Amino acid sequence: MVPAYTCIVFDLDGTLTDSREGIYASIRYALDKHGFPCPGEDTLRRFLGPPLAESFISWCGMTEEQAAMATESYRERYIPRGMLENAVYPGIPALLKRLKEDGVFLAVATGKPLNATRPILEHFGLWDFFSSVACPALSDLHADKAALIGNALSGLPEKARERVLMVGDIPGDILGGQRAGCDTCAALWGYGDDGAMLSSSPTFSAEDPDALFRLLLGDRKPPRGPFISFEGVDGCGKSTQIRLFRAEMEKMGYRTLLTREPGGCPISEGIRSMLLTKEDNGMCDETEALLFAAARAQHLREVILPALEKGWAVISDRYIDSSLVYQGAGRGLGMEWIRAVNRPALRDGMPDVTVILTLDPAEALRRRTKQDIPDRIEKSGCAFFDVADRAFRRLAEEDPLRCAAVDAGGTETEVASRVRAAIFSRLAAGKSKGGKENR
Ligand code: TYD
Repeated sequence: MVPAYTCIVFDLDGTLTDSREGIYASIRYALDKHGFPCPGEDTLRRFLGPPLAESFISWCGMTEEQAAMATESYRERYIPRGMLENAVYPGIPALLKRLKEDGVFLAVATGKPLNATRPILEHFGLWDFFSSVACPALSDLHADKAALIGNALSGLPEKARERVLMVGDIPGDILGGQRAGCDTCAALWGYGDDGAMLSSSPTFSAEDPDALFRLLLGDRKPPRGPFISFEGVDGCGKSTQIRLFRAEMEKMGYRTLLTREPGGCPISEGIRSMLLTKEDNGMCDETEALLFAAARAQHLREVILPALEKGWAVISDRYIDSSLVYQGAGRGLGMEWIRAVNRPALRDGMPDVTVILTLDPAEALRRRTKQDIPDRIEKSGCAFFDVADRAFRRLAEEDPLRCAAVDAGGTETEVASRVRAAIFSRLAAGKSKGGKENR
């Protein structure tokens, strides 16, 4: 383990986020607009990190004036589109969260102007981790890293400046950190060439954010991951929304586990095959409900809890609320009976957020009829699904802190942005109340 730092200053591109896709596309746009040929990937790589105008001059043979115009054109595409063609490196949120909890001041010093830096950090859920963010003015085309680090530190209390570490992925970050009087860490997961990084003499280096976590935090556990379940009547477009949301979480630097109920592990998949037969096997309602609970008990212990402990985000396609609605309301066993039989199954296993996709039952029926042979539950008829739909909406009203009813009508993208907003507002509210935690 390395010394306890009072403040850690991070570079942004190539250190916190992998922003290549949007940067390359915006460079190509600017070069094309000004009639310059686009260089190959090897040269484009060199644009990552140093001030953009300097790269236009060095690698495309532009004059200072042409480089200023090309930078402006770059921003024309980068600000509305390119900046979100971007992803947080896996493990970064866990690292920042634990450091912040330990009282370490966190800061960003980046060559990107604030009009891009802030929306990126906000969009990917990182903004609130940082006590100070230093960016150059829009007109400053040759920002100096040591000066940026100095600016980041000047906004912090005296005690934060006692022992500072700069983490960056190109030699300019390391040299800038040294000139600003900081220890430095080479983020070898970023854009810099490993040899060049190491010969810039960083205090230490890390292969990936998990290695940096171990260096800075020893054997501390990562924070427990978020647990999110998706619910809704058959035909509401749940699978598509789950796929889109999972991709979002991965872009935010979370490792994800996607699982489903009934099922998710061999024993529970075995129970699933009994529950979802195509023919009527004469199963009584109580057996059905108890088997769903049994499958859940195994799934939670074998799959869900271990993944949450590792800090992964767990996304489950259906969970306890399906039992409350389908067996409790639909089969008429009553929600209290379902809660009671699920209590021993659930232990510490309630989701942090449950998205309930709601859809006009007639529209859901239209979407369902396109599918192949229905299983036992799907054969239950329209009245059953109407009851289920109303019960899902009622659950959302009764427990709005955990459950979000999200209108599943409209385009995939419209629904996805409603889903995202519903989940992140609840996760943030849970955090401020002090949610479940790994100790
Ligand atoms: P599945 O084929 O996974 O599809 P989908 O979730 O897309 O509808 O079907 C699971 C079925 O099991 C679904 O009809 C809902 C039902 N179910 C219950 O009745 N109770 C439960 O507790 C769970 C988890 C599912």
